[in-house]
Amino acid sequence: MRLAWATDVHLNFVDERGVDAFIGAVQKLGVAALILSGDIGEAENADYFLTRIGDGVAIPTYFVLGNHDFYGGTFKETRHKVKRLTAEKPNLFYLSASDPIVSGVDLAIVGHDGWADGRLGDYDESDLVLNDYVLITDFRPIKVTEGSLPLRPKSERLKLMQAQADEAARHLEWQFSVLAASTKHIVVVTHVPPFREACWHNGRISDDRSLPHFANKVVGDMLLREAERRADCQLTVLCGHTHSGGEARITDNLTVITGGAEYGKPKIQRVIEIS
Ligand SMILES: [Fe+2]
Ligand SMILES: [Fe+2]
Repeated sequence: MRLAWATDVHLNFVDERGVDAFIGAVQKLGVAALILSGDIGEAENADYFLTRIGDGVAIPTYFVLGNHDFYGGTFKETRHKVKRLTAEKPNLFYLSASDPIVSGVDLAIVGHDGWADGRLGDYDESDLVLNDYVLITDFRPIKVTEGSLPLRPKSERLKLMQAQADEAARHLEWQFSVLAASTKHIVVVTHVPPFREACWHNGRISDDRSLPHFANKVVGDMLLREAERRADCQLTVLCGHTHSGGEARITDNLTVITGGAEYGKPKIQRVIEIS
């Protein structure tokens, strides 16, 4: 089975012709399915771009959302809108809200958006403020005083980040729990790199200032447990978020591929062949 994988396509940064070009590039590959690991657009247009892609490629499209997909909206409303869309479009599958996708006896695809959880690197000392904390409604303070930055206290932001990350780990754990023990290959789709070794940024591993905001440790811990439990199964994690590509072999049967990306230049990361 041949699958195409793209990440961080950020289609809101290209015009309609750019969207068509991306769809055309997928069509040309003649693959059985498409995987998108988040940052498709923003809250007001992620569903539009998913519709364009789903209708255009006309093959099963398995996706998760990235942090940018919530910009200008809330977690709840954005996910609700996307779930409603997948109910109308039979070839669109939002992995964060779905059962594992099982293909034959050997292959399964699971996934969740994921979120950075501040558990790697040095969150307390990090002065990094991502756009997430300003542009996603859930992160905004209840009351904004004039002249001050519309930011919640750092400790409150961490709680929100960890709630998202923990939800991802729980969902993935449940998806793994319903898969047959004999499954030979599990593809895990998530936006946020789950290990330090997979958290590339500008061509190198992220430092302690960035890691708390770029990596999802709780999902990594969960994947390590699953990899150990399923010694005869190959786990391949597809993620993005940091826009810098790399591949990390975490254990003999657990590999993480992080996609590189550039705003305005959506592309296919790779074609994955699973036999
Ligand atoms: Fe991105
Ligand atoms: Fe991202």
